[in-house]
Amino acid sequence: MTSIKTPKKLIEVALPLDKINEAAAREKSIRHGHPSTLHLWWARRPLAAARAVIFAQMVDDPASVPEEFPTPEAQERERQRLFRLLEQLVQWENTTNEEVLESARREIRRSWARHCLGAAAARLSDDEIVAAINAGRMPALPGFHDPFAGGGALPLEAQRLGLETYASDLNPVAVTINKAMIEIPPRFAGYEPVGPLPPGERQATLHADWSGAKGLAEDVRRYGAWMRAEAEKRIGHLYPRVKVTSEMAADRPDLKPLVGQKLTVIAWLWARTVKSPNPAFADVDVPLVSTFILSSKAGKEAYVEPIILGGRASRPPQVAGETPALPGTPALPGYYFTVKVGKPPESAKNGTKLARGANFRCLVSGAPIGDAYIKAESLAGRMGERLMAIVAEGPRGRVYLPPTEEHERIARSAQPLWKPDQPMNRDTRDLVSGRGYGFFTWADLFTPRQLVALTTFSDLVAEAIEKCRRDAIAAGLPDDGVGLDASGTGALAYAQAVGVYLAFAVDKGANYWSSLCSWHSGRDTVTSTFGRQALPMVWDFAEANPFSNSSGNLLSGCEQAAKLLTNLKSPSNGLALQSEAQSQTVSHNKIISTDPPYYDNIAYADLSDFFYVWLRRMLKPIFPGLYATLATPKTEELVATPCRHGSREKAETFFLEGMTQALENLARQAHPAFPITIYYAFKQSETESDGTTSPGWETFLEAVLRAGLAITGTWPMRTEYTGNLKKATNALASSIVLVCRKRAADAPVITRREFLRELNATLPEAMEEMINPGGAGVPPASGNSQDGRALRHSPVTPVDLSQAIIGPGMAIFSRYAQVLEADGTPMTVRTALQLINRFLTEDDFDYDTQFCLHWFEQHGWATGKFGEADVLARAKATSVDGLREAGLVAAGKGEVRLLRWPELPAKWSPKTDSCASVWEALHQLIRALNQGGESAAGALLARMPSRAEPIRALAYRLYTLCERRGWADDARPYNELVAAWSGIEQVAGAARVAYSQMKLDV
Ligand SMILES: C[S@@+](CC[C@H](N)C(=O)[O-])C[C@H]1O[C@@H](n2cnc3c(N)ncnc32)[C@H](O)[C@@H]1O
Repeated sequence: MTSIKTPKKLIEVALPLDKINEAAAREKSIRHGHPSTLHLWWARRPLAAARAVIFAQMVDDPASVPEEFPTPEAQERERQRLFRLLEQLVQWENTTNEEVLESARREIRRSWARHCLGAAAARLSDDEIVAAINAGRMPALPGFHDPFAGGGALPLEAQRLGLETYASDLNPVAVTINKAMIEIPPRFAGYEPVGPLPPGERQATLHADWSGAKGLAEDVRRYGAWMRAEAEKRIGHLYPRVKVTSEMAADRPDLKPLVGQKLTVIAWLWARTVKSPNPAFADVDVPLVSTFILSSKAGKEAYVEPIILGGRASRPPQVAGETPALPGTPALPGYYFTVKVGKPPESAKNGTKLARGANFRCLVSGAPIGDAYIKAESLAGRMGERLMAIVAEGPRGRVYLPPTEEHERIARSAQPLWKPDQPMNRDTRDLVSGRGYGFFTWADLFTPRQLVALTTFSDLVAEAIEKCRRDAIAAGLPDDGVGLDASGTGALAYAQAVGVYLAFAVDKGANYWSSLCSWHSGRDTVTSTFGRQALPMVWDFAEANPFSNSSGNLLSGCEQAAKLLTNLKSPSNGLALQSEAQSQTVSHNKIISTDPPYYDNIAYADLSDFFYVWLRRMLKPIFPGLYATLATPKTEELVATPCRHGSREKAETFFLEGMTQALENLARQAHPAFPITIYYAFKQSETESDGTTSPGWETFLEAVLRAGLAITGTWPMRTEYTGNLKKATNALASSIVLVCRKRAADAPVITRREFLRELNATLPEAMEEMINPGGAGVPPASGNSQDGRALRHSPVTPVDLSQAIIGPGMAIFSRYAQVLEADGTPMTVRTALQLINRFLTEDDFDYDTQFCLHWFEQHGWATGKFGEADVLARAKATSVDGLREAGLVAAGKGEVRLLRWPELPAKWSPKTDSCASVWEALHQLIRALNQGGESAAGALLARMPSRAEPIRALAYRLYTLCERRGWADDARPYNELVAAWSGIEQVAGAARVAYSQMKLDV
């Protein structure tokens, strides 16, 4: 065997980015069989992106194999063939399509054979390559490693592509998720289920297909059903059905047909309470309710109506023999809750809330209740809760009922025998414990009944494991006593494997069974604890019934795990282990694709303790080392959290040093034949107005460079998985995949002047190529390759432009050992980014456009002072009067504002207005597009062909500006114009041909 060369990989040259992005976006709506349904993890990468990146990182670019593809045409043909395969490969439907996956594996093996055997590889068929590997004439493919494995998207995809796969993470919850995805399924592939069929189910076992992890999946389902049945025997009395009484139906005709029926409860809706701040009502527990709306679905509206009783508290009218619809404690209440159907009054919308945050009013006295009062009350242990409504399963959908005394009493009667009393971090606002509301331990996030349910279910996991072990022995599995952690494959290990997925189902339950779950009135459902990457306060919460058939029931967690397992084929082995990225030794000679934490974006360790405290109870006997500590490790977590490190500066230093160490570590060990791919996800707010220079991004790039890596390509990808996240302001917006190689040991040092010269020589063309792909005769693809040439199928969208431009810029910067400033100091990444970003902000528009642009930057469409406009106009060699006459601004009463496109003259012609500014031309084009579609915009553009490029450049510029400022509505027309640009140009081109034809004909 001779090791010959390291060809460039496809990802270093070209990618069908638009297809990958499309598939990644589609994947967000996949609910069944997706790893995200197995266990929550934050900021998961879509599988499509992960698969495409790993594939393209391992497969040669045809231009690097001239002996097989000698001409540019042959190379392009081959590239297109690989693109077509990639396009197939990223489709969700093909995640289980062995034919497509095997084609991808073949390409990977072929590139590997070229690496090992050189030109001789071309003469070998795939079977011969496999035979050569099996006979030891060629080394096996290197393994894959992701040292920040998280929710496991990257390792799972590497395994699917046939690589022996290693996943490590500092966090035990993440490690367990990876075990469940890549380690356990192949170990028990082909096992038949051993559990008893749930009552009422029949299965012809003889004919069943138990290939892959299907048998394991079936056992997860069976023991899950057993657990639920057992739990119902033990704690079912705490989850009573609710009887519809004639009293409830008195003014609710919708309930009349249900009177006397007992309905399964979906959720009990509670309001937190504090004592009224009004001394006259000091013993009344008043509710803190963010909304009284229960359902806002059209035609099915329902809401809570609080009835305030005159004078002191009393009870609502009672009907003999029926449960009084009233909270129980006799000394209370001053009010009670009823539930109404029909259009809610406006006042119901905001509950008892007065303003954002912890600002409420006392329901009985109207006195304001502020944040400080609520905090003091809760710290003094006087925060309680009152049952506000009950949601039940009716014959035709949800039924909303008033609270009953009996149901409140039963809930309060629950007495947990165990609770997770590990302290919560009280220094971070990411957790409710850091917000001063009297949450001290993880147990405080659960009602007593929820604690009883969770302890019961977690005890049952241990019982299910024992039961499964006995069943497995009876079914013939070896009774070898070797557990999962010791690589066992016998009865004990198998039972423990089943237990891991059952524990995940309980965890999934926990996500729906805390007092931080709210009721979603738009979707009529319980929302999970983690609606976003934080645990904020929830004032009125929903307590889901684990025994219902709706969201938050135990079996759905088991079914989802089973579904995922059924879909996993796992063609190779996997290993997941706990390791700190700064010092891990797993990467040795491995292919690396990884997705490190993003500066301060997500506090993984703090958040994951929510699950850890329950998993530890269930899984410590199985993984004693992994679950040894009381909480997840925090100290070495690479997250720049000031609360952990003392100050913002110290947090930044910690992140920079730790990340540099981690990247150095993996760069040192990585297999030299392959580039390393690293994801970085942006928050929308990270793109600042002076360019893409946020501390997170800057610090991260600094670490990449310090680790001795050179950037050989960058790919802006829409890889964020926002799934069911609320529209959180800090949701990940998009990511950039950095393709890196080790920087040459003898990389030269250059000066700032030389750096600028290279930027000037490279960036304008690269940017033009991004906006106008293929214009310069470059083959189609997408993104930025090593030499700064942008190759793509489709134009880079405006939103990605500021990130995309970093690729070629940083490729230059990172190629050198240092870029020296005039005073001999090394240039910082910040300065480099600013210099690169300048290429986006350069403007050589006409004076009126320059005025409008700068005014827009300052004021948007709002009004500003005349004096200010006058100064700016003079600076731009124009005048406010001239701008008004040109129809660009409205001026009067000492104020000036820009006219929006709908206000511009309707009958506008570039011919008559021949000196019109690019600003006006652009906004007239937007008007035409909005009113007459691409054909009208194209016809208009045909009449001003020389303006096309400046118009488009200005649209990009304005889009980027609006996006950076968070002006989403203002950004839309510019984005729409750019998106429609090629269509508009086509129409314009056709119109021009028709016009010249007409002239010829004449
Ligand atoms: C962005 S997430 C990975 C997400 C993953 N790619 C996915 O698709 O789910 C980053 C991961 O880095 C882990 N992490 C943070 N600090 C670490 C360290 N020092 N060593 C190893 N892992 C660490 C976190 O626990 C988290 O799971």
